Amino acid sequence: MKPLNPPVTNWSGKRIWLVGASSGIGAALAKRLLAAGAQVVISSRRIDQLTLVAEGHPNAHIVAFDVTQTEAWPQALSQVVEYLGVIDLVIMGAARYDPTHSWEIDLAQVEKSFDLNVVSMYRGLAFIVPALLAQGAGGIAMIASISAYTGLPRALIYGATKAALNNLAQTLYFELAPKGLAVYLINPGFVQTPMTAVNDFEMPGLMTPEQAAAAIMAGLEKGRFEIRFPGGFANLLRWLARLPDRVRFAMLHRLTKM
Ligand SMILES: NC(=O)c1ccc[n+]([C@@H]2O[C@H](COP(=O)([O-])OP(=O)(O)OC[C@H]3O[C@@H](n4cnc5c(N)ncnc54)[C@H](OP(=O)(O)O)[C@@H]3O)[C@@H](O)[C@H]2O)c1
Repeated sequence: MKPLNPPVTNWSGKRIWLVGASSGIGAALAKRLLAAGAQVVISSRRIDQLTLVAEGHPNAHIVAFDVTQTEAWPQALSQVVEYLGVIDLVIMGAARYDPTHSWEIDLAQVEKSFDLNVVSMYRGLAFIVPALLAQGAGGIAMIASISAYTGLPRALIYGATKAALNNLAQTLYFELAPKGLAVYLINPGFVQTPMTAVNDFEMPGLMTPEQAAAAIMAGLEKGRFEIRFPGGFANLLRWLARLPDRVRFAMLHRLTKM
């Protein structure tokens, strides 16, 4: 079957903007893309961390900014265009995770999470989509999470933000693919990064950031719309999410021991 997006066949010279590149999955992905010969603009707030990621890579360029500041986006975009000329792919992965049970809602955390994980995606898209349409080509990849598939314990805020991105990516694909743009939805499982360091439970299928970066690149190379990993755990959760409510809730209680 024909892939939903054009497969990336050669990373050499690909012009990529990676937002959320200073640590974890983003940093590992930046290093892997740079090693494969791509031109990569790396963004996030911490310039010292971005400098470490770029070290030793002449094809890396840093544009530091805060994605929650709407006015920072057009400035960052023009710097990126100045550096890359044309953008082949924008990967957006800046996010936060505040593990929360249903009985401990902190509204400040809710607002911060939705503002960063969801609203900031729209802030970026508001400027990136017109720029890519004007180019007549290019791709947008959003990092969501497999926690989007179904309600999970402690994911009261995070899961809802990532479910929003799963829906958003589908509309983007539906509307932008016919106009010649690629849209990718990246749904990782558990990855050992600063974000998951707060988890005090055993994380099934835990991957290293390097394995996650390799899985993302493999998905892009196959031209997938949804890039989900690790295979076993991500597919299990997706299957569970499609079971009748009664069966799914019962199985999730058993699996999570909650
Ligand atoms: N780790 C997992 O198990 C897992 C699972 C599923 C999905 N994900 C998703 O994968 C992506 C990367 O997560 P990670 O685990 O690698 O976490 P991480 O190491 O905490 O990385 C988060 C990134 O977001 C950036 N960021 C945060 N706030 C920002 C802001 N206001 N402006 C600009 N950049 C900002 C951070 O950089 P600065 O602090 O320098 O700004 C950092 O580069 C996220 O979307 C996350 O939700 C992770």
